[in-house]
Amino acid sequence: MIYNFDTIINREQTQCVKYDLRSMFFGTEDVLPMWVADMDFATPDFVLNAIRQRTEHPVLGYSFRGDSYHQSLISWLKRRHRWQVEKEWIAFSPGIVPALNFCTLAFTRRRDKVIVQPPVYFPFFDAVTKHGRKLLYNPLVLKNGRYEMDFGNLEEHCKSGAKMLLLCNPHNPGGSAWRREELEKMASICLKYNVLMVSDEIHSDLVNPGHSHTVLAGISPETAAATITLTAPSKTFNLAGMATASVIISNESLMRKYKKVVEALHVDLGNLFGNVAAEAAYTHGDEWLDQLLQYIDGNINYLSDFCKEHIKNIKVISPEATYMAWLDFRETGLSGDALRDFMIKTAGLGLNEGRQFGPGGDGFMRINLACPRSVLQHALENLKKAVDTLQ
Ligand SMILES: Cc1ncc(COP(=O)(O)O)c(C=O)c1O
Repeated sequence: MIYNFDTIINREQTQCVKYDLRSMFFGTEDVLPMWVADMDFATPDFVLNAIRQRTEHPVLGYSFRGDSYHQSLISWLKRRHRWQVEKEWIAFSPGIVPALNFCTLAFTRRRDKVIVQPPVYFPFFDAVTKHGRKLLYNPLVLKNGRYEMDFGNLEEHCKSGAKMLLLCNPHNPGGSAWRREELEKMASICLKYNVLMVSDEIHSDLVNPGHSHTVLAGISPETAAATITLTAPSKTFNLAGMATASVIISNESLMRKYKKVVEALHVDLGNLFGNVAAEAAYTHGDEWLDQLLQYIDGNINYLSDFCKEHIKNIKVISPEATYMAWLDFRETGLSGDALRDFMIKTAGLGLNEGRQFGPGGDGFMRINLACPRSVLQHALENLKKAVDTLQ
């Protein structure tokens, strides 16, 4: 079946964060929203059909994730990532951000130090500080248009007594699909100093042609024993509103600690439709995802080519993974509030401000490319006209 990603779908007035909360976030309705990380494409038909089919039964009472869910995830991870997971290693979370918070509660104590690598998806910061733990920054280094880890600084932090590292794998924003050698080096440092690794792999299915995803826990048994993997179908299949994710832990003692927190908070049963949607996605999703990745790659190339030709002072950090691109505005001289105002008022675009993502983020903007090509074309024409006014 050929899927069509060109269709423009009106998402307004669907209680949709990206469109219906524009006034709250940008101070105006009048921006083309290319911020929140969900897609403007239809959630695939096989997911919607599975939900419709479940509504044929008239009772929506308490439910749990059955064997068929676990088998669908196990088979997906094996097919797509060559990672063999056992059913006993899989635990529930209503989302990846909740899971980051559960990990902080389960594996660290107040005032413990937790390492994050900014610029990074901003809920990583709150997942540490809101629980009275301390953030240690290991800023990524931008080298020849690609973000890399600073292993020397990482080792210093680990040596100073850090308890846990939150890894974004692949990385959001910036789009690095961490390579096996990089993860091996990172893991060897963490293992040496007994630092637990939490690997957020929500973007792992969205790796662009020419790149690949490495499952951190898959690199060695020693690494697996010190790693918590967070995964979800929400980005891949555009079902974030279903609030459903999985946490994979092969170390039994860590699993016990994780479950204790989730059960204490009584969030372990989950959402009936989330389970149904996720299982359908993992079971039927390959063909749709392969076509989606081609389309997104086309959008990434369109953006890169357009900026090279028409907006030379904005550099595109082309994502190896994820459907978000990281735009470097530093040559324009714009940063902070001036960059925010320029984007909203002059370009009419609603993007994520780089400074939200922590140290190293100011002077950048994150643009969401999971939209029909015609929408991207329109956005880039607006951006070009706005940048022309700066000269
Ligand atoms: C790296 C990363 N983790 C987690 C999330 C959100 O996960 P959830 O909606 O399951 O809490 C996002 C969404 O953009 C993300 O980019």
